[in-house]
Amino acid sequence: MPKVTFVQRGKPDQTVEFEHGKLPYLGHGLPESFLDVALNAGIQLEHACGGSCACTTCHLIIRQGMENLSEMEEIEADRLDTAWELTTSSRLGCQAVIKGDVVAEFPMYTRNYVQEGGAIQLGQPEVTDEGPKEVQS
Ligand code: FES
Repeated sequence: MPKVTFVQRGKPDQTVEFEHGKLPYLGHGLPESFLDVALNAGIQLEHACGGSCACTTCHLIIRQGMENLSEMEEIEADRLDTAWELTTSSRLGCQAVIKGDVVAEFPMYTRNYVQEGGAIQLGQPEVTDEGPKEVQS
């Protein structure tokens, strides 16, 4: 039975055990992922995209048991690249499926574009003496 410990700064650690194949799937993230386990245990793990690998709010830093997680798929690696406080031990909670004992820490910050009002502007329009330059399509 895998034992999953969630570590949050300033809060007591929370440890959850579950039996493979017995966790009720609540429809968010991959079955038996950190997100699935957290939701079943009533632990709040942000998941702005609903667990579809389209945000990074479920970012976790694995402190122990990296070998007890599913292999990282390319789609997760690409999404993870945009996570705040990225480390070499980072995983997305909705994509990393738990195979054995693991300890995961919540990062200090996450990017939550939903709560922050939607998409961010990554660039500025070119401004000339005549005002903003029109982009030709
Ligand atoms: S919940 Fe959005 S990527 Fe995991």
